[in-house]
Amino acid sequence: MSKIAIIGGTGLTSLSGLAISEREVVRTPWGEPSGPITHGTFGGHEVAFLARHGSGHTIPPHKVNYRSNIWALKKIGIESVVAVAAVGGIHADFKPTMIAIPNQIVDYTWSRGHTFFEDDLASVVHVDFTEPYCADLRAGLVRAAVDARVDALDWGTYATSQGPRLESAAEIDKLERDGCHMVGMTGMPEAGLAREAGLRYAHCAVVVNAAAGRGAATITMEDIEKNLKVGMRSTLKLLESFLRAL
Ligand code: HPA
Repeated sequence: MSKIAIIGGTGLTSLSGLAISEREVVRTPWGEPSGPITHGTFGGHEVAFLARHGSGHTIPPHKVNYRSNIWALKKIGIESVVAVAAVGGIHADFKPTMIAIPNQIVDYTWSRGHTFFEDDLASVVHVDFTEPYCADLRAGLVRAAVDARVDALDWGTYATSQGPRLESAAEIDKLERDGCHMVGMTGMPEAGLAREAGLRYAHCAVVVNAAAGRGAATITMEDIEKNLKVGMRSTLKLLESFLRAL
């Protein structure tokens, strides 16, 4: 299997259980990545780990240097990326603490460095993004969820909102009308950049709240953190099972 990296999101700033062999600082033409890349073994398989929001969880979604992160992973020879991301559930099937392996994505973000093909081009570049996620990686994650007896949905469209605030109920209604089933703040441009870089990429989304207007009148950080804890335990089980099966 190809060299794999896990990008950890909110609630996964380190990979507990990762036997660390090295921390690598990688320089890129796009500025600083979110932090050093940790190398080690997890589930008996070599893996690299990068905390998207920094090791202290201090970089908000709209300030993450997605270009630098993806460039750094490519530069060290990574071929496949499993991206862990917290989401709010829009569709009723996407319940807090559950995991989803989305098969589509919609981008509502703005002003983020979202492409490697910007300046000094010999000619304009357009990459295909019809299927934004790698089918093989998705299948592996879905199988791993079954093996690890983790409650996971193998479908869904991930809406990427700008953040860092959560959405209004009307915004969630709009995303639902657009065909979105879950909403997070980091899916794009990360997935698009991974495609531009030729990396296989799949999301492991963890539902940490019902989206605005779909559950409690107010979404509290307390509730999110409670669900995040449970969801991340399942995520670690799933990831371990995924890596063990490679
Ligand atoms: N909206 C956007 N991003 C999120 C949410 C949400 O409700 N929950 C976790 N990340």
